[in-house]
Amino acid sequence: AKPSPLRVIIAGAPASGKGTQCQLITQKYGLVHIAAGDLLRAEVAEGSENGKQAKEYMEKGLLVPDDIVVMMVRDRLSQPDSQQNGWLLDGYPRSSSQATALKKFGFHPNVFILLEVSDDIVVERVVGRRLDPVTGKIYHLKYSPPETEEIAARLTQRFDDTVDRVKLRLRTHRQNVDAVLSMYEDITIKVNGNVSKEDVFAQINNALTKLLD
Ligand code: AP5
Repeated sequence: AKPSPLRVIIAGAPASGKGTQCQLITQKYGLVHIAAGDLLRAEVAEGSENGKQAKEYMEKGLLVPDDIVVMMVRDRLSQPDSQQNGWLLDGYPRSSSQATALKKFGFHPNVFILLEVSDDIVVERVVGRRLDPVTGKIYHLKYSPPETEEIAARLTQRFDDTVDRVKLRLRTHRQNVDAVLSMYEDITIKVNGNVSKEDVFAQINNALTKLLD
């Protein structure tokens, strides 16, 4: 019988490199990338009622209430592609209530990857981050500069990527991470996220390869 597909959670401070690693993981493992922050930003861009409410919390660096986030993630996880190819959940769960909901809906990860990055690196990464609205690719002015002038000219910045807001986001992360970790202790892999994106990926790749064996 075909082995069941991988089910991965990736967690870490803001700008610890979750999205960057998810692009590398999906390229190699074909998992469906589900990022809570991206789903929320799509609602904000659409101008839906949920999006309007969510934006107020995101601007303050606070967790968006469960009544908006929990069902949104559950619906995406339940789609046939996630079930067939496996999933890579990015930035969810961020509280014990979200972890409990995930369990209740029957979604059980094989591994919980925690990216560990120091605070000063987080701030530097946030300030230099840019996004390509055409391809969705994540850049950094210093560490992953755009390949061409044309791409450079169209890059955008996220509304919550300022020094003040990242400090608030870091505080929210610190307040919640231990409660989430305690629910996944037996499947947690801690990864040093302070090194280059290739070196971070090597650690993750190693862990995922072992899991598949
Ligand atoms: P979300 O979008 O999830 O933001 P976040 O957790 O703050 O994480 P980021 O997306 O900022 O960073 P990342 O870790 O993906 O880093 P990246 O790879 O881009 O959430 C935003 C908001 O939505 C939250 O504040 C909250 O309000 C709400 N929200 C989200 N999920 C929620 C939930 N479950 N419940 C309630 N509310 C929720 O990298 C950052 C930069 O560094 C890039 O420029 C990149 O090029 C560079 N970089 C990456 N890796 C390296 C490396 N190894 N070396 C050098 N540079 C690197």
